[in-house]
Amino acid sequence: MMTSSIKYRTKRLDEEDVFDSDSPTNERVLEKLKLLELQNKYYLSEKNRLEKENENQRKELERLSAPPLITGVIVEVINENKVVIKSSSGPKFVVTVSSTIDVKELVPGALVACNQRNLSVMEVLPSLKDPEVCGMEVVERTGVTYNEIGGLVDQIRKIKETVELPLKKPELFDKVGIEPPHGVLLYGPPGNGKTLIVKAVANETDSTFIRVVGSEFVRKYIGEGARMVREVFNLAREKSPSILFIDEIDAIGSRRVDTGISGDREVARTMMQLLAELDGFDPRGHVKIIGATNRMDMLDPALLRPGRFDRIIEIPPPTRDACLEIFKIHSRNMNIKDLDYSEFINLVDGLSGAEIKSLCTEAGMNAIREDRDYVTVEDFKCSLHKIPSSEYSNNSLIGPMYG
Ligand SMILES: Nc1ncnc2c1ncn2[C@@H]1O[C@H](COP(=O)(O)OP(=O)(O)OP(=O)(O)O)[C@@H](O)[C@H]1O
Ligand SMILES: [Mg+2]
Repeated sequence: MMTSSIKYRTKRLDEEDVFDSDSPTNERVLEKLKLLELQNKYYLSEKNRLEKENENQRKELERLSAPPLITGVIVEVINENKVVIKSSSGPKFVVTVSSTIDVKELVPGALVACNQRNLSVMEVLPSLKDPEVCGMEVVERTGVTYNEIGGLVDQIRKIKETVELPLKKPELFDKVGIEPPHGVLLYGPPGNGKTLIVKAVANETDSTFIRVVGSEFVRKYIGEGARMVREVFNLAREKSPSILFIDEIDAIGSRRVDTGISGDREVARTMMQLLAELDGFDPRGHVKIIGATNRMDMLDPALLRPGRFDRIIEIPPPTRDACLEIFKIHSRNMNIKDLDYSEFINLVDGLSGAEIKSLCTEAGMNAIREDRDYVTVEDFKCSLHKIPSSEYSNNSLIGPMYG
């Protein structure tokens, strides 16, 4: 029953003195008793509710104030209650395992969270294959088409040959009796469409696009980088057909020089794992590897040996015509007043693809700032100096490296 109704009826009974009223006393007392019982019931249920709420709040507080756990990696499983772990700071310990953990999850190499006090294993953490942990981008369909790429006609054709053909028609290679290329390496100055091209290829071949950035493999702890390389390649196999794109590969693939610094040695170890994975790859499998870098001069020659990345394709800065084409792509949906492309060609010539895109956005912002719904050539002209690094686009320091 609603509380307000109970309250109202009790109040009324209180106000009328039971003994003064005309109705028989007994009846009135009985009704009051009934009401009081109802009231009692209501307060009891309310008490239960508040107690439950209190309990939930207490649990939440406990959860939030729990001490941090230390991560470690299982080295050896002794029995279901004891394992040897290597703590993240280096030394190994024999520790007990919390009874709540499933024994099947205790495998050498698993990442675990341990109690700070006695290092007992409290939790088995998800494998690094979890894309979020790894800092990977995994996209089933990128949605980028070749129409969105300006220029780069030759480069697109070469990539189609090496990546698309083996994925779409593997039997052709069997017939001729050659192994399809393992992978492709793209190089060239930043912002000219390396990532864009790879996304378009992945889209065209209906492959899963897995992008990892080389620097993600550079880890603080020994062996972690190599383990990540392994996990990423395993993920690519699981998700096949897939394109594994290793962006900024120079972070791990730079020339191995023994400086004696342990950090360098760790990077070298990660790189060796990468070479091993590239070698062990079945070229006929439905996984293609594409690497990209803008520091070609720094790469280890071992990476460039045929059989690893057998095609090396340059993605150069756009030509004058390509610049205009890229401009057309990015201004496609813009409302430009008295559009005459010949006015723009000198404006965009010498900029990189990314800079042209940024120029279009800036010009649009300018129009919005001035409360207009159309963009003028002037907007583009005055935005030119605002785009970052445009003064470096023809920089002689960058130039010769790709020449
Ligand atoms: N040829 C092009 N056609 C159309 N748009 C382009 C082109 N090149 C670059 N762009 C635009 O610039 C953006 C950045 O390009 P992208 O990410 O492909 O550069 P990148 O070569 O991979 O650079 P980095 O070496 O820094 O990774 C793209 O998202 C796209 O909008
Ligand atoms: Mg890129």
